[in-house]
Amino acid sequence: MSARLIDGRAAAEALRGRLAITADFFRATTGRPAGLATVLVGEDPASAVYVRSKIKATEEAGMHGLHHPLPAETSEAELLALVEQLNRDDAVDGILVQLPLPAQIDAARVIDAISPEKDVDGFHVVNAGRLAVGAEALVPCTPLGCLHLLKSEIGDLSGANAVVIGRSNIVGKPMASLLLGESCTVTIAHSRTRDLPEVCRRADILVAAVGRAEMVRGDWVKPGATVIDVGINRVPGATGKTRLVGDVAFAEAREVAGAITPVPGGVGPMTIAMLLRNTLVAAHRRAGLKAPEDL
Ligand code: GUN
Repeated sequence: MSARLIDGRAAAEALRGRLAITADFFRATTGRPAGLATVLVGEDPASAVYVRSKIKATEEAGMHGLHHPLPAETSEAELLALVEQLNRDDAVDGILVQLPLPAQIDAARVIDAISPEKDVDGFHVVNAGRLAVGAEALVPCTPLGCLHLLKSEIGDLSGANAVVIGRSNIVGKPMASLLLGESCTVTIAHSRTRDLPEVCRRADILVAAVGRAEMVRGDWVKPGATVIDVGINRVPGATGKTRLVGDVAFAEAREVAGAITPVPGGVGPMTIAMLLRNTLVAAHRRAGLKAPEDL
């Protein structure tokens, strides 16, 4: 039987509708819109597309997007000075420095310089630490989007065997912390994991975040499992154009899984929605207001 498709576009649209209402409320209450500052160093075309779509979504939700494009040869000191200026700017609730950064800039130092209260990517060690100990944190957008889809699909996750493939600070580790917070039994698998297919076959919830096209095969999936595919990989298509595929061999996996996210149209749209959410949450906290529980 074919798995249910988890429609990330529809879920993101519904969430963005709720966020727009909250953004209006915030503006009416405080007399100013919630503000997201984005910083892009250089002209990488893929990064430029991502940042443009983040700003567009911010404005569509009734928030203020302030974009700071910088030349590719910007020094680390110049970027740190801009981050400091944004930290001090009261109109800025969230700061997003698009990664990757050019080689002359140490990304860790830049992330460290962002005020944790404005770190809407959730990459600062303070937010990573808060998440790890179960305290109130700004949580990275992609795993937050995955959790939202899982809870909409399954409801209560407690007791489920969850396997996360990938141990990055941006997806794998925070995803594991979030699933642990939902009382799942969590395994983090990675490139050194022994017998990865067998580990995956134990998963009621399988999250693939490795960045390798169609690595997870259909026979790695437990029958009825919920599969979340974080991968976005460009591969050559039949007509000479490239096409997007995930980390999961979708056609095979959907014959075995209970529910699965497509690529595109699964996790991707949720990531931007969660960036807007984090910006609104940060804005409420900074203004001493309580954000709605279901945000
Ligand atoms: N580059 C690719 N994804 C991301 C992201 O989520 N945040 C930032 N800052 N840069 C990225």
